[in-house]
Amino acid sequence: MRKTSLLLSTALIPLLIASNCLAQNIRTITIQADKMQAKIQPTMYGVFFEDINQGADGGVYAELVKNRSFEFKMPLMGWKEVKQNNARGSILVLNRGAANADNPRYIHVTSVSAQGYGLGNEGFHGMGIKKDEQYNFSVLAKLPAKTAEMGLQVELLSAKGEVIGSATVALSSTQWKKYTASFTANQTDARASFRVMMKGSGSVDLDMVSLFPQHTWKQRPGGLRADLVQLLADMKPGFLRFPGGCIVEGRELDTRYQWKGTIGDVANRRMIVNRWNTEFAHRPSPDYYQTFGLGFMEYFQLAEDIGAEPLPIINCGMACQFNTCELVPLDQLGPYVQDALDLIEFANGSITTKWGKKRAELGHSAPFNMKMMGVGNEQWGSQYIDRYKVFEKAIHAKYPQIKLVASVGPNPDGEIFDYLNPTLRSLKANILDEHYYRAPGWFLQNAKRYDHYDRNGPKIFAGEYAAQSVGIASPDNKNNWNCALSEAAFMTGLERNADMVYMASYAPLFAHAEGWQWTPDLIWFDNLRSYGTPNYYVQKLFSLNKGTEVVPLLLNNEALTGQDGCYGTACIDENTKELIIKFVNTTGESQDVNFSISTASHLATGASVTTLANSDTSAVNSFDHPATIAPVQNRATLDGDNLKISFKPRSLSVIRIPF
Ligand code: AHR
Repeated sequence: MRKTSLLLSTALIPLLIASNCLAQNIRTITIQADKMQAKIQPTMYGVFFEDINQGADGGVYAELVKNRSFEFKMPLMGWKEVKQNNARGSILVLNRGAANADNPRYIHVTSVSAQGYGLGNEGFHGMGIKKDEQYNFSVLAKLPAKTAEMGLQVELLSAKGEVIGSATVALSSTQWKKYTASFTANQTDARASFRVMMKGSGSVDLDMVSLFPQHTWKQRPGGLRADLVQLLADMKPGFLRFPGGCIVEGRELDTRYQWKGTIGDVANRRMIVNRWNTEFAHRPSPDYYQTFGLGFMEYFQLAEDIGAEPLPIINCGMACQFNTCELVPLDQLGPYVQDALDLIEFANGSITTKWGKKRAELGHSAPFNMKMMGVGNEQWGSQYIDRYKVFEKAIHAKYPQIKLVASVGPNPDGEIFDYLNPTLRSLKANILDEHYYRAPGWFLQNAKRYDHYDRNGPKIFAGEYAAQSVGIASPDNKNNWNCALSEAAFMTGLERNADMVYMASYAPLFAHAEGWQWTPDLIWFDNLRSYGTPNYYVQKLFSLNKGTEVVPLLLNNEALTGQDGCYGTACIDENTKELIIKFVNTTGESQDVNFSISTASHLATGASVTTLANSDTSAVNSFDHPATIAPVQNRATLDGDNLKISFKPRSLSVIRIPF
């Protein structure tokens, strides 16, 4: 028996030692690399985006000013009056009502003093500012009368109150006009703030007071935080589901997500309260609103940027059934259905159509080639079926090629699921969206969940899942290794059933360390930093190694679905010509395996082995230790068609063997 030989330096030492100590009870796992079992969809692993946990405003949407248009319920929330050296003045909140229904409020600032009066903004738990980076200020302003003197002095302040960047703006117009100014910060500070000071005595009307970093994702003005988008791009996700989640539904119909209000000039995107603002009494977020600066055009653009298929979810005439359960009467669903049809035209229509033209005017004349859409989020009951039918009929009458995602409710079993699952199957739904927020043990036990699903029925979208270390949405949940490892074990079952499981996404995606409502979450960030959790690295490893066809991986002629705590799957990547093995060892012991590979091709002698491992199941990543659990690369050597390897305790390993 030839021992596994490993080629890399220090990182491989633990694996090498383990390999030299292969136990007597080495088990042989056969891989039939020449037997294609199922095609893996390019969409297999994707991301679920929702504006929860400050995911959009105060998160990936890089605007630094909170309540920039004074539309929060308390119009000056996030703002405070600034009076230096006893300067005097006043701030009035005006409401122009129907004259500007989407952005009714603005402020009228009067400075009695020639200088020293103004207002400051606290940002989202402060503002994350980086030394030597450029910041771009903009404001809508209107002078009541021509004056040669009026201007603004805009200043970034460190947490200690020092001015760390500033610019001046001369005001000139008695009509609403956009003014801009840029400056460079001379310090890094995670808790900076910003103030707008009056220059000269007199009055001015102000609205849309905004400050963005110049450096955003792809340097887009008014764009997205580059570090956070990069973490998504690094996963090479197959799809981007947006805009959520419960946020699609709203607590009540009035606060449902309406995509048409989220495109075009940001000053005209009607802001609403974020439904997570008041959802959890233990995590109140009174200042959580949706500016829709990250709106549907930006979502489609983001999907395109990161190579993901766009998957919008639309409201189906139902508010959140955990909250108000408001329903639109069936005979009044017309506008809701029209929104769905118009969305397809917006995404895919030629520029001669009304909504395709709109897309082109917004800078994207090429269609986004959207192929699927969700009807409702976590809905249930016959009310949902009634409404789903109306949407399905109308959408497929006009766009038969669009695959519709239907909800089977918030749970993977139970009364709601047991009603919706067969009902939607009988209606020949295209794709069923299953959600599982469950204990880690559930994930281990459900690695076989799809083995016996009807192969001729709807495809499965594992649309939201995350192992909950304590309980569903408990504030004590942790993104620990135990949870991530159990998700990895479960995901081998998703992949083995790729003939039917077409998509999967962890949820929620983002959380601000100070602004979260729901945990666990895939990626945590603060105003300057971000890190991937162990769960993130599990998702990333699966996504980057998804392959194109599943092939059988068998222990004693059975799939490896938890025997002795081990889980595995294998696939071929026809593009790179590699065999990919994923192996999950959930036990506290090393597991010694001989992979015996049958293949018509000639296997290379060298394999790459990427491992996520930690013997401590409570281990987590953090801002200070972002790579406690992160992929480690090694190499292994085959002996002909055999690969002997010792898997570390509590590990996920991905092996790639060229052929
Ligand atoms: O992911 C958080 C929430 O969980 C989603 O908004 C909802 O769909 C589910 O209940």
